[in-house]
This record gives sequence, structure tokens and C-alpha cells, in this order.
Amino acid sequence: MIIAIDGPSASGKSTTAKGVAEKLGFTHLDTGAMCRAVTWGLKNAEITADDIEMIRHFLSEIEIYFDATNRIHLNGIDVSREIRSGDISSRVSAVSAVPEVREKMVQIQLQIAKGNNCVLEGRDIGTVVFPNAEFKFFLIADVDVRAKRRLIDLEKMGETKTISELIADIRRRDELDSSRDHSPLIQAEDAIPIDTSQLTIDEQINKIINHINLNK
Ligand code: DC
Repeated sequence: MIIAIDGPSASGKSTTAKGVAEKLGFTHLDTGAMCRAVTWGLKNAEITADDIEMIRHFLSEIEIYFDATNRIHLNGIDVSREIRSGDISSRVSAVSAVPEVREKMVQIQLQIAKGNNCVLEGRDIGTVVFPNAEFKFFLIADVDVRAKRRLIDLEKMGETKTISELIADIRRRDELDSSRDHSPLIQAEDAIPIDTSQLTIDEQINKIINHINLNK
């Protein structure tokens, strides 16, 4: 069974997808982490998002995998922490808009998820990667709530930004993710929208679990 959870950044996807996967005993696949890992790798190799030839070469040799504790490894390096930095967050939308990157990500996602019970979270899971997913959810939240969540994440990394800077970052990324030509962030017609602004993590998870139990 495939469960697709899409939505903009800091809408609650990761925590929700992780909790749903744990409760159901499914694999959890964080596809945003994959885009972030590629962004980290390109930055490390000093390749810019407009250098398509170098990106193609980089992608042809890439190896991404999630270990048993769901930490993400890029070419043998555990990058789980580095990919959450403010710097990677500010670069990832441009990298994710590159069609070659998207094609490669989808190829790896299909390999990991096919034939498995899997909760995938991202931007285009219900629309492009698994349009026939058994269940599709689209998470949203108010921009100020999302900025506060992002601030907590950044503070854990020892970084800080003002709420107004974070709101501006989030709006810019929403705009980039929604307006790109290749698989933009958009709610699938058959996805169930969930506004997480006023929900606790348990409430978010239970909403999805209850819906699945009632409709499977
Ligand atoms: O969910 P997140 O903030 O970790 O995602 C980081 C970026 O990755 C986001 O700005 C858009 C991109 N992304 C994507 O293009 N397609 C996906 N399936 C998941 C994420």
C-alpha cells in the first residue's frame, strides 16, 4: 500500500509521515530529504543549479540510501544533519526544479517504494510519483505557524533567524515550488486536505490513521 503525504515546507509532513509509518509498520520515505541531500552534494562539489552538464554527471554517479534508522546517506556520507541547515533550505528549491534532478529522484523513489508498504512525503507524490496511491493527503498550515516550526528546527541546529525572515523564506520557497514547470507543488484532485495549524502532532497522525482505517 502507498500513502502519499504532500504539502509545502513546514506543514507538518515529516513528523506526520513518520508517526503514520510507525503506527502502521510501513516504511517512511522522506523525499524532501533526498532533494536536500542532492543540494548538499552539489554545493559540496561547487556545482551550481544552472550547470546542467555537471549536474548530469553528478547524478550519474550518485548513491542515496536510508539506513535502518532512516538516516540519509549520500555517496556513503551520513548527511542527515547537514541537510537541515538554513543554507541548504535556501538552495533546495532551485535544485529541485531541475528536471534531471526530479527524474533521478523519482527513479530512486520508485525503486525504494515499489512492492513495499510505504508512506511517502513530498511535493509531487500524489500527482506524479504515485498518482494511483491508495491514500493521498495534502497538509497545509498558516505561514506564521510554519515559520515558528522552522525556527524551532533551526535553533536545534544552533542557527537563528527572525520570524519575519523565516516567513519571507517560506513564501519564496512556496512560490518557487508551486510555479516550477516540472511537477510543481499542487494538491492532487483526490487528496484529502488537512490544515495542521491548530493540530497537535498526535491529532495530525490520528486523523490520517482514522481515515485509512475507515476507508481501507
Ligand atoms: O519537505 P522539505 O522542506 O524537506 O523539502 C525540501 C525541498 O525539496 C522543497 O523545497 C521542494 C523539494 N521537494 C521536491 O521538489 N519534491 C519532493 N517530492 C520533495 C521535496
